[in-house]
Amino acid sequence: MVTLDTQIACGPGGIELAANCLRRGELVAVPTETVYGLAADAENQDAVAKIFKAKNRPAKNPLITHVLSSAQAAGLTGNWPKHAGILAAAFWPGPLTLILPSAGKLAPTVSAGLPTVGIRVPAHPVMRGILEKCGRPLAAPSANKSGHISPTTAGHVLEDLRGRIEWIVDGGPCAVGIESTVVGFNGEQPVIYRPGIITAEDIDAVLRRAGISVPILHHSAPGDDQPLPSPGLLSRHYAPHRPTHLFMRAELTHLQTVLESLVSGAGRPGVISFGPLPMTFKHVTSIALPENLYHAAGELYTAMRSLDRDDMSAILIELPGTDQLAGAGGDASDIHDVIPRLSGLARVLADRLVRASIPRPEAHR
Ligand code: TXA
Ligand code: MG
Repeated sequence: MVTLDTQIACGPGGIELAANCLRRGELVAVPTETVYGLAADAENQDAVAKIFKAKNRPAKNPLITHVLSSAQAAGLTGNWPKHAGILAAAFWPGPLTLILPSAGKLAPTVSAGLPTVGIRVPAHPVMRGILEKCGRPLAAPSANKSGHISPTTAGHVLEDLRGRIEWIVDGGPCAVGIESTVVGFNGEQPVIYRPGIITAEDIDAVLRRAGISVPILHHSAPGDDQPLPSPGLLSRHYAPHRPTHLFMRAELTHLQTVLESLVSGAGRPGVISFGPLPMTFKHVTSIALPENLYHAAGELYTAMRSLDRDDMSAILIELPGTDQLAGAGGDASDIHDVIPRLSGLARVLADRLVRASIPRPEAHR
């Protein structure tokens, strides 16, 4: 692969430049309110192919297409489930992706051979400016190397894709900080393919206000209402390079011992908690995220990336929300029993953290 000179642009000039590059079939990393995306003209097959190459993304993983409005989304899709229209009206522009029947107008690789297309109307003013100026639907997965933590600043994009793309538009840090909620439909029944800041509870509330009461399903557990599939079914994703482990508040007394065992010639461990921990640890870099989980989500990936350094032996991350559960704690093996009992954003963050903590396959270490 040719090494490119990666540059950062910003302001109105950045929007103009990005729109021109995208119209020419080039890639540009762009800010959105969730995470930075790696954009290409979704109607241009060659441009879309460049996304898969730059990210090293498996061809079977479909891309999200970004448009300016529901009307533009309607032009790219077939008949919508009624409930999809209600969710679009409630949450767009915003961090919601809807899986809808494809009208076959986009490059086929965008949908990775599926009869559906994932569509989102983003809210970020810079992304909207780029969409408006270039006048094309933009396919954009998160702008990280496949499997790594999504970028929430232009600097993060540079860390992952330097030399692989020419332009990054800097729109500041992403406010939401985790990827959009991805919702598909089984008939009229909403199915969450990827949990996000718009939670199952938020979707339920909007549908109920419209007089609709329907259970919200999870993709990996069709037919039942299990909140999260068994971790064994999840693939490693959103993952730091360092070994990553999860802990619960109730395990704090064991944590010191675990941390000591991780101080070695290879480095020191790092700890990320939701709210401050009641003790300090020697030889350990600790990051206390805000206790409020909306704010914590905005800072989580920056914290994970900042500890993913050569001098770190491992990263330990608290599973949020466990202190409010009766009987949670004890043995670390309990964690996967506790996750299905979490709700709201705690459950959403648990999904990301479990994927981040799945060990790397031996061959890739
Ligand atoms: O917040 C976000 O969604 C960011 C920003 C840039 O918009 N994008 C993002 O894209 O996270 P990506 O490619 O990293 O994740 C897209 C997810 C994947 O899990 C993919 O499998 C799913 O959406 N997806 C896309 N199209 C789909 C389809 N037709 N059917 C099922 N899943 C789909
Ligand atoms: Mg991604």
